[in-house]
Amino acid sequence: MMENEPIIIRTENLKKVYGSGEAQVIALAGINLTIRQGELVAIMGPSGSGKSTLLNILACLDRPSEGSYYLDGIDVSQYQRRDLALIRGRKIGMVFQSYNLLPRLTALENVLLPIFYRREQRLPAEAARQHALAALESVGLSDRAHHYPNQLSGGQQQRVAIARALVNDPALILADEPTGNLDSHSSQEILDLLQRLHAQGRTIVLVTHDPEVAAHTERILLIRDGHLISDQSNGRTRSMPPSNSLSSSPASTTPEVHHDH
Ligand SMILES: Nc1ncnc2c1ncn2[C@@H]1O[C@H](COP(=O)(O)OP(=O)(O)OP(=O)(O)O)[C@@H](O)[C@H]1O
Ligand SMILES: [Mg+2]
Repeated sequence: MMENEPIIIRTENLKKVYGSGEAQVIALAGINLTIRQGELVAIMGPSGSGKSTLLNILACLDRPSEGSYYLDGIDVSQYQRRDLALIRGRKIGMVFQSYNLLPRLTALENVLLPIFYRREQRLPAEAARQHALAALESVGLSDRAHHYPNQLSGGQQQRVAIARALVNDPALILADEPTGNLDSHSSQEILDLLQRLHAQGRTIVLVTHDPEVAAHTERILLIRDGHLISDQSNGRTRSMPPSNSLSSSPASTTPEVHHDH
């Protein structure tokens, strides 16, 4: 049962304030959140509600202004940049809407990067290469290893980015609108891939505007004006649905989200 799984993410009164004076923005107004190992969670909410701010803090890319963030039981909210980078490399794989691949590196070289930046358990070059090739194979891109990002479709670039996120075997995969730039076919491929990773027991938190995407998660967090206003179980089991289920799934299980843009 999910209740017995270890807690991977716990936040206590997490706040983020940008700027000061009249330019002050309260991006997160006190978020209390627990996510357990193996969960597949969607974060939804209007534009500007604080979704990316939250995800970036969860990814150790940024620090909260106030409150605590326990990652795998360790309070990292006071960590300095260097230690955040270390823990990020060890525990987190991040996927972005715009893929964020380095354009002058091949798919394989992009996937190799996190291995090279790793401080512990460093692999010899050939083992690293085999490991990166295996990650590319797991996203179905063995035959594109030596292509550059501009020689790949958007969906393929995102699969490379997912391979890169996976390559250090992170406890947690965080994705900020991973299908936001993709057509429906490529979106479905990425969604299928994330669901496969979930079925393997990975913990995945993704931000999405797309109710169809959210409908394929098991829990939906709704954020508005920096507040967590709803936390709903999506009533799905952890088993992987058939790959053609995206169009036939009941969208009614997702909460209504009103977009401001
Ligand atoms: N670096 C920054 N400096 C100042 N304000 C910021 C900064 N980053 C974000 N904000 C503000 O914080 C609020 C939350 O932004 P955030 O990017 O988290 O929203 P979001 O929910 O991800 O929106 P979207 O759906 O458009 O991506 C917004 O009002 C935004 O203008
Ligand atoms: Mg955002």
